[in-house]
Amino acid sequence: MTAPLLSVRGVETYYGNIRALSGVDVEVHRGEIVSLIGANGAGKSTLMMTICGSPQARTGSISFEGQEITRLPMHEIARLRIAQSPEGRRIFPRMTVLENLQMGASLDNLKHFKDDVEKVFALFPRLKERQAQRGGTLSGGEQQMLSIGRALMARPKLLLLDEPSLGLAPLIVKGIFEAIKKLNNQEGLTVFLVEQNAFGALKLSDRAYVLVNGKVTMSGTGKDLLANPEVRAAYLEGGRH
Ligand SMILES: Nc1ncnc2c1ncn2[C@@H]1O[C@H](COP(=O)(O)OP(=O)(O)OP(=O)(O)O)[C@@H](O)[C@H]1O
Ligand SMILES: [Mg+2]
Repeated sequence: MTAPLLSVRGVETYYGNIRALSGVDVEVHRGEIVSLIGANGAGKSTLMMTICGSPQARTGSISFEGQEITRLPMHEIARLRIAQSPEGRRIFPRMTVLENLQMGASLDNLKHFKDDVEKVFALFPRLKERQAQRGGTLSGGEQQMLSIGRALMARPKLLLLDEPSLGLAPLIVKGIFEAIKKLNNQEGLTVFLVEQNAFGALKLSDRAYVLVNGKVTMSGTGKDLLANPEVRAAYLEGGRH
């Protein structure tokens, strides 16, 4: 088996004295869609942010393409082409759609800028129609598309998505998940997805991890976890499926 693209080993992350992650092990291989599901406050966003370097893991190690990145500053991690669409989308509200996309492109990629923007527009035609509109006036679904589009402008080897479905109508969520699947199928993009929408995430994913109180309690293929009675009881019963 080839070495994982991303390897998280025994990671503990603290906010002051409060431990948010307690020895997390996660692996993501090239070409996979892997999701992390769990309840509010489980530590999902903390893991994603720890991978990106802020906050940093207090113990344990994180490696990317075999290189230790645990103590690297955020901008150096980003330079390795790990891109994220953070929780709450964090687009620039006063900038236009096109300007937001420019912010996602690294200087190295400026020569590809036009092609890369066209790719984002092909994936999310709505953004093309609205390219001159300010980010802050977009709908929630459009803002999510923009947040993903901006991350794609970095030409990521690993795309991290924190709750892309949050607060969106089912039809819009379906479109976002289809776009993620398409990127994975057509471009071979590797995706690590954090989701409370367990059903949607597990259906989309090759593999998944369940996080409870800062610890991974279960892992398996998306299909197996979807069928798992404990997962069903905790995350799927009464949910959308
Ligand atoms: N900046 C911070 N300072 C102190 N505690 C924090 C901070 N950010 C998160 N926490 C705490 O760490 C724990 C994990 O939070 P985190 O945001 O990672 O959870 P989550 O699984 O992403 O939850 P949600 O589904 O609500 O987004 C929570 O108890 C939270 O209160
Ligand atoms: Mg979160």
